[in-house]
Amino acid sequence: MTQALSNEALTQQFYSQFGQADEPLHHYYSPGRVNLIGEYTDFNGGLVLPCGIERGIHLLIRKTTARTAQLASGNLPHTATIDLTKALVKDGKHWTNYPLGVMHEFTALGCQLQGMQLYFYGDVPDGAGLSSSAAIEVVTAFALNQLHNMQLPTTELALLSQRAEHNFNGVQCGIMDQFAVAMASADHAISLQCNTLQYEQVPLELGDYQLLIGNTGQRRELADAAYNQRVIECNQALALLQPATGATELADVSPQQLQQHLALLQDPIIRKRAAHVIEENHRVKLATDKLRNNDLSGFGQLMNESHQSLRDNFQVSSSALDTMVEMISATDGVLGSRMTGAGFGGCTVTLIHRDVVDDMIQAITPGYIESTGYQPEFYSTRAAAGVRELTS
Ligand code: GLA
Repeated sequence: MTQALSNEALTQQFYSQFGQADEPLHHYYSPGRVNLIGEYTDFNGGLVLPCGIERGIHLLIRKTTARTAQLASGNLPHTATIDLTKALVKDGKHWTNYPLGVMHEFTALGCQLQGMQLYFYGDVPDGAGLSSSAAIEVVTAFALNQLHNMQLPTTELALLSQRAEHNFNGVQCGIMDQFAVAMASADHAISLQCNTLQYEQVPLELGDYQLLIGNTGQRRELADAAYNQRVIECNQALALLQPATGATELADVSPQQLQQHLALLQDPIIRKRAAHVIEENHRVKLATDKLRNNDLSGFGQLMNESHQSLRDNFQVSSSALDTMVEMISATDGVLGSRMTGAGFGGCTVTLIHRDVVDDMIQAITPGYIESTGYQPEFYSTRAAAGVRELTS
């Protein structure tokens, strides 16, 4: 597991990669995110409720007079030197496509990129559904915005990072991840209406309870094609429901309207996809109210229902995710547990009493390994603040 590093250690790594120079070094940080509820609602114009986590991506950056951008990472061996006098193109299938995609979007806005050296380091496990890629994109966008004095608001940086994901990384993702890591606030969850980007910071007052992320150990390999397929299916469902409901987004259809017009959705797959999105969107509204009213049990119950719907209707869970959720849910002191993010492996999120966390992990780990073959990891987290400059 990748560990957090001190600012001094990161600075030393930067210098051993790129050497010392007079030009000052700037240090930025973006957290990863965990979504508490509201899965696959974002690109359907619905509500989500994510928060930042206490793991994230550091970016150390320094201007140079060369016409190149040099990219390196403390996590992965691949490095790149990009010629800024030429059009930016993809760098194979490497991690560098995330910062490159962001640079590309800055040039699309007419920004002439400065020569620079960028060093990334993170303790968000990659391929685990905790938005390490959105964190790389948003921290890059935040840094480039300052370096080039572009003065783009942080919400614009989130949208720009989403375009980078679409254009350079081929996933037709919604806005949740980039918005969450950009706008997160400590000890709050963000209630975000994804079509208008109206949002509210909802205090996450969990008392004796806490969030626990469970990494199934199953990487989200080959999930992009399945994700894009879900986007297509949701659009098909909307096209079928639109004439009868007037809805312009699938999440605008109410659960009552869905029941009324079920006959329009003959294909059982399309029907299930629509049911998930419409009911999940409704669950986010209920869950946000539960949080405001301090009804954590009610909130947990909705998390459980969300998981069932993602498993049965949206069909993006995996047997490792289901096994982990079942084992965790069978523990006393657990209020709710579900897969989080895009699924197909990756992580679960659980609302659990602080006193039972260690015992629960010890109790379920051997059985989990035996039945799935994966080594799980668990990360306790509070809701953490979004992208920012660090002064070291
Ligand atoms: C991924 C995407 C998000 C969102 C979730 C599912 O994390 O990047 O936009 O669609 O999956 O809720």
